[in-house]
Amino acid sequence: MWSVHDDAGERTHPSPEALVLREFGGHRSASLFPTRSKHANYFDPAQGPGMRRAYQDNGEGMNQPRTNPPHEDQRVLMSLIAGLPKVELHMHIEGSLEPELMFTIAARNAVSLKYESVEAVREAYRFGNLQSFLSIYYEACSVLLHEQDFYDLTLAYLQRAHAQHVVHTEIFFDPQCHTQRGVAFATVLSGIRRALVEGERAFGITSRLIMCILRHLSAEAAVDILEQAQLYREHIIAVGLDSYEIGHPPAQFVNVFERARQHGFLTVAHAGEEGPADYIWQALNLLRVSRIDHGVRCMDDEALVGELVKRQVPLTVCPLSNVKLGVFPRLEEHNLREMLHRGLCVTVNSDDPAYFGGYIAENFVAAQQALHLTASEIYHLSMNAIQAAFLPAAEKQALLDQAAAVYHQEIAS
Ligand code: HPA
Ligand code: ZN
Repeated sequence: MWSVHDDAGERTHPSPEALVLREFGGHRSASLFPTRSKHANYFDPAQGPGMRRAYQDNGEGMNQPRTNPPHEDQRVLMSLIAGLPKVELHMHIEGSLEPELMFTIAARNAVSLKYESVEAVREAYRFGNLQSFLSIYYEACSVLLHEQDFYDLTLAYLQRAHAQHVVHTEIFFDPQCHTQRGVAFATVLSGIRRALVEGERAFGITSRLIMCILRHLSAEAAVDILEQAQLYREHIIAVGLDSYEIGHPPAQFVNVFERARQHGFLTVAHAGEEGPADYIWQALNLLRVSRIDHGVRCMDDEALVGELVKRQVPLTVCPLSNVKLGVFPRLEEHNLREMLHRGLCVTVNSDDPAYFGGYIAENFVAAQQALHLTASEIYHLSMNAIQAAFLPAAEKQALLDQAAAVYHQEIAS
């Protein structure tokens, strides 16, 4: 029987979160995670790789009383988050543009920004909703003009991802945001790709690219960018759908996505972030997507939850993003844990890490803290991401084996 434990324990100084985040800065030091006692009862041995059903079969997990394990357990959890091999499936490369790099690139391209300083940029990052975020996001993209800019942007993300033990990443890019400003598709793709090749050589990070269609633009504009993407088919695994969701339902892009599938692209779509559960149905049934990006609003529709569970459609959830954009008022109220317990294939991702206060590890840490995620839950979230990746089965298995080894070393030994 699966049981839930309370991970909340007395804090020490510096806190385990501070330690783990310091580690993510790239200075791994064994002394940051001193030897701690192992808690044999911490993990239910009935669970292991491929045990996603354990969540479905358990009707009582969410409401069970929680026990208080010793505070060392918090260290175990932080160490587990640090050590697990991570797969990121929802990250917009333009959303990884840190203010410092934004200023550097703006200066060399002689682009003037409406902000005086890095601090002023960060000060502006108080978003009420998706719309207020996207207007700043699109404006910041105006500094990106040359191949080198896209290279620097992507390499900076890969360096941070590597420091957090990301081993595979599937990156969104928004070419319409750049072609509209006169930057060629080839320039964007070439800079990103050159960094991805370098990232694999230097860090061993594997990657895929997903071209997103901006849903606030027309279906004709979408077809146009799809035809450009078709020229680089071998470098782009899938077509996605992003930007302002409400008022731009997936149904508007049925023909474009049909054409994308005919060209051999896989498909994904942002749905059920701010928009209703019905948009998730449309993405599934009309766009025939392999994954739903966000999808948190599925919980409003029981039949939809049943369908997503039955088909094990991956949902790429982004906890910090959802709070920054007001989808949930507080992380403590996020439905990630409940979704996991319902048997949904949920994963943790950063979305636009430079804007939302953290990369993938910070998302795991914050979700763990707010929702008291257990080691087993963290492990399952990581395994879900591996299973949901657009990777060959053998590569997924190798990553699952790595994750299992880390998990057992951290928890069960
Ligand atoms: N939602 C929709 N579109 C986006 C996002 C997002 O969080 N980030 C970049 N484009
Ligand atoms: Zn997104």
